Amino acid sequence: MPNPLSKLEKINHPLFDKYQLDVRVKRDDLIDNTISGNKWRKLKYNLKQLKGSHYQGAITFGGSYSNHIHAFAYACKQHNIPCIGVIRGEARYANNFTLSWARQWGMQCHFVDRKTYRRRFETDFLAELAELYPGYFFIPEGGSNSLAITGVAEIITELNQQTEFDTLLTPVGSGGTIAGLISGDSVAQCKHHKILGVAVLKQAEYLIEEIKCLLTPKALKHNNWRLLTDYHRGGYAKFSTQDIVRLREFNQITGITFEPVYSGKMVLALLDLIEQKYFSQGERIILLHTGGLQGLGGMIEQGKLSADDWPALTYAD
Ligand SMILES: Cc1ncc(COP(=O)(O)O)c(C=O)c1O
Repeated sequence: MPNPLSKLEKINHPLFDKYQLDVRVKRDDLIDNTISGNKWRKLKYNLKQLKGSHYQGAITFGGSYSNHIHAFAYACKQHNIPCIGVIRGEARYANNFTLSWARQWGMQCHFVDRKTYRRRFETDFLAELAELYPGYFFIPEGGSNSLAITGVAEIITELNQQTEFDTLLTPVGSGGTIAGLISGDSVAQCKHHKILGVAVLKQAEYLIEEIKCLLTPKALKHNNWRLLTDYHRGGYAKFSTQDIVRLREFNQITGITFEPVYSGKMVLALLDLIEQKYFSQGERIILLHTGGLQGLGGMIEQGKLSADDWPALTYAD
């Protein structure tokens, strides 16, 4: 068995002591400074497919502050793959934190308005793009395709080598990451685990069907997962001042930076669930740190967070 890609770190917190919980963090955020967390996992087999293939390049989709766009642009630069980002929003976003880096790494941004962006799964829109960019390999928003599922499933293989556990928590945006975890767990030889997804957007119930669509046939029969839809804190990329105070305090106690859009919402959900006595005494919980720290750059730039409170972000040219 190859060594795990990321380490597992035990964390301490007064609430864990109070409720006798064993909590560890799967540090996928440390896999790579730029292609971090679930992006690394999701892109692994997509990049393999692209390298040495007949494709002219790769095209993907995302918002103007997207972690996926940022990581994908860098991965394509590393592997010399021409890349296009179909970006939701106006061209004025081209110089924001995320897209400045993406463009510096060679991504060509194709801006579309919100109405057009909603067509990103429609075959006629994809055909129009394919005509504009012939021979390009298409990767959906968030990188969530079947190749991504294979990459994410490897997290379970690693975890099973690293420890025994009961429950795994992950943030959920498009659903690809949790689908990969469920798929990985459904084929593991060891004891199966409870997998809890924390939806980071409002009215996310529709994601249950989207997650099912991404599951392997065996995983479809695997029922030990749940999507928690009440911990979005007001909607995508929304949070209160109190949320940030709690999250920063948690980061300080654990020494790990969780950002407020994805992994931070998982942390806040964990704290709420513990207070609600959701977990059993002695439960062994893993938090999947999905990375995404580059998103802090955009939030600081928009004045949603103060630069003084968060670590500085640096990336290679
Ligand atoms: C840092 C981070 N964590 C979690 C997620 C959620 O992953 P998924 O879209 O696969 O549900 C995303 C992206 O969407 C992300 O950028």
